[in-house]
Amino acid sequence: MKAVRVRNPASLDSLEVVDIADPAEPGPGEVTVKLYASSLNFHDYAVVAGMIPTEDGRIPLSDGAGEVVAVGEGVEEFAVGDRVISTFFPKWRAGAPPMGSFETTPGDGIDGFACELATRPVEAFTHAPESLDFLGAATLPCAGLTAWRALMEDGKLQPGQTVLIQGTGGVSLFALLFAKAAGARVIATSSSDDKLGTVRKLGADHTINYKSNENWGEEAFEWTGGRGVDHVIEVGGPGTVNQSIAAIRPGGHIHLIGVLTGRSGEVETAALMRKMGRLQGLTVGSRAMQQRMIAAIDANGLKPQISDRFALKRLADAFRHEESGKHLGKIAIEI
Ligand SMILES: NC(=O)c1ccc[n+]([C@@H]2O[C@H](COP(=O)([O-])OP(=O)(O)OC[C@H]3O[C@@H](n4cnc5c(N)ncnc54)[C@H](OP(=O)(O)O)[C@@H]3O)[C@@H](O)[C@H]2O)c1
Repeated sequence: MKAVRVRNPASLDSLEVVDIADPAEPGPGEVTVKLYASSLNFHDYAVVAGMIPTEDGRIPLSDGAGEVVAVGEGVEEFAVGDRVISTFFPKWRAGAPPMGSFETTPGDGIDGFACELATRPVEAFTHAPESLDFLGAATLPCAGLTAWRALMEDGKLQPGQTVLIQGTGGVSLFALLFAKAAGARVIATSSSDDKLGTVRKLGADHTINYKSNENWGEEAFEWTGGRGVDHVIEVGGPGTVNQSIAAIRPGGHIHLIGVLTGRSGEVETAALMRKMGRLQGLTVGSRAMQQRMIAAIDANGLKPQISDRFALKRLADAFRHEESGKHLGKIAIEI
C-alpha cells in the first residue's frame, strides 16, 4: 500500500511517499479498514515539523475515515462494509479522563492514517456519521470532538448563552457549528477581515479582528451588554487568556484547548478569581463522547467547514498551506 512517513530529523521536507507491505489480517478483536480520507490538525503539524519528537518512519495523521474490509474473530461491533472513523485516544472508552499521554494516539505514539489500510483493535474506530461523506467524517476525531467536548460535555452549553471562538481554525469552526446548532450566540475573532466576513455567513453573530483590536475581550464583554461571555474556546493560551478572562461573565468557562501563543505565561489570577471564572484544560475526548457527537451530527445534518483538499501524495503541501494560515476550518486529505 501507499503511505507517507516522517523521517528523523522530522521536517516537512522529510515527509516521503512510500510503498510498504499491507497490514496483517485482523486478529481476534481487530478490524482492517481501507482509508479514504484524513484531515490536518495542529498536533499533526507539530509531529511532522519536529516540534513533538516521534519515531523515525512514523506514519502521521491522527484522523482517519474509511470502510471496514475485514473483521477478526469475536468482533461484533463492526461488519465488512461499515463506514468508520478513528478515535484519538483508543483506550479511553468512556468515563473520567485518563492521565494525559499521546502514547496510543495515531500519528504520534503509534502509526497514523496517512496510508491506505490499517489493522487495529475495534476501539480504534467508531461508526462514522451517516450524513457525512468520508472527507467530512475525517475532520471529526480530533478537532470536532475537542469542540464538542468543551461546549456540550464539559460546558453543558445552554440555548441563549454566548460562546467566543478564537481564530478560524479547525477547532474554533467546529465550536461555531455546535454552538449555533445548540441555539447559542457566537462571537468570532480572527486576524483577517476576509475570514471574519466568511464566519458571519457561517452564522457568527459578532466578529472582532484580534490584530486591530488588542482588547477584543473587553469588546466581547461589552457586546453582551455587560453580562459577559459564557464560554471561550481558548486556542491561543498564555497570550490570549487574559483577554478571555476580560470577556467572561462571572462564573464563565474558559476551555483551554491550545497554546498557539506559547507554552507558559502570566495569567491574571486575581482577575480570574474575581470573575469566579473556570479555566479548564482539556485534550480531545473519549470514544463515548465521539459517539454522542456523531449522533448529534446525524440528527441535525451538521456539515464541517472544509476550506481545502489535498491528495495524500501532496501531504507536505497541505501542511505548508496550514502553516501559511490561509485555511478556514479544516484541511482535508483525500486518500
Ligand atoms: N487540547 C486539545 O484537545 C486540542 C485539540 C485540537 C487542537 N488543539 C490545539 O488548538 C489549537 C488550534 O488547533 P487547530 O487544529 O484548530 O489549528 P488550525 O486549524 O491550524 O487553526 C489555527 C488558527 O488559530 C488562529 N490563531 C493563531 N494565533 C492566534 C491568536 N493569537 N489568537 C487567536 N487565534 C489565533 C488562526 O486563526 P485566524 O487565521 O482566523 O487568525 C489560525 O488559523 C492548536 O494549539 C492545537 O494544538 C488542542
